[in-house]
Amino acid sequence: MTEAEHADVAELGAVPPLRCVQLVKRYGDHTVLAGIDLTCSAGETNVVIGGSGAGKTTLLRHLIGLEKPTSGRVEVDGEDIAPMSEFELNRVRRKFGMVFQYAALLDSLSVYENVAFPLREHTKKRESEIRRLVLEKLEMLGLSPRVLPLSPAEISGGMRKRVGLARALMLDPKIIVYDEPTSGLDPLTTRTVDEMIEQARRQFGVTNVVISHDMASTFRIAHRVHVLIRGRIVQSGAPQELVRSDDPAVREFIEAAGVDRAILEGKGRIAED
Ligand SMILES: Nc1ncnc2c1ncn2[C@@H]1O[C@H](COP(=O)(O)OP(=O)(O)OP(=O)(O)O)[C@@H](O)[C@H]1O
Ligand SMILES: [Mg+2]
Repeated sequence: MTEAEHADVAELGAVPPLRCVQLVKRYGDHTVLAGIDLTCSAGETNVVIGGSGAGKTTLLRHLIGLEKPTSGRVEVDGEDIAPMSEFELNRVRRKFGMVFQYAALLDSLSVYENVAFPLREHTKKRESEIRRLVLEKLEMLGLSPRVLPLSPAEISGGMRKRVGLARALMLDPKIIVYDEPTSGLDPLTTRTVDEMIEQARRQFGVTNVVISHDMASTFRIAHRVHVLIRGRIVQSGAPQELVRSDDPAVREFIEAAGVDRAILEGKGRIAED
């Protein structure tokens, strides 16, 4: 979507799946989030990019209600989750699938048990139904049933990401949140994970929210980029708008990332415009 189309959507009053309004978080006298204004666009890949220690994980924990803001709003489908009780939050959290940094699979369980885990925790489905759903998700993500009995330690980093995504998709979420999905991966695996993120969005019709510090990856997958610097979103827009930004902080951030010009010019882009 172009900026003008985004403005149209806003005018029509469409409720965004996720929005923060003046979100502030302080730990003692340390302000980590200094008034975040963020609107994620539905059905697209939204990347929040920021340097190390910029507050990315803290922001993500607020988006899914794991952390209470000091002040401000966090709206999920238009509902402010900041004042909600744990009981209400559990209902809202069902809208999210989480893909954690380093996949966070349980090494003591097989791949099958890892993917089946949310169904066992949150539903009363029979074993035959669980098996069918696990196989279906793995197949859609291009994973062979041969990996099912293996331990996560026995499969590759890229496969672990896929298994983490299969698990996140198990309860059919509307929004998938990824915390630094490509950190610690080599360039080739990074590319396959980027493709997986785009594929999941298209196949399952979800809204993606990706927390990242990887500029190259961001330009491949993002429809919208939100730049987090010193606890604020200093710019939101399409990747190409970011390249043309005249905000000195944004320019400095892009230059420091040292990304290949071809990527900035849109070559190698995965997300459909
Ligand atoms: N529970 C907490 N108590 C105190 N300070 C915290 C807490 N959680 C985070 N912080 C501080 O907030 C700042 C941002 O942390 P956060 O983990 O959100 O950054 P990040 O952008 O995710 O960093 P990274 O790139 O290393 O993952 C850090 O200075 C951190 O020490
Ligand atoms: Mg982090």
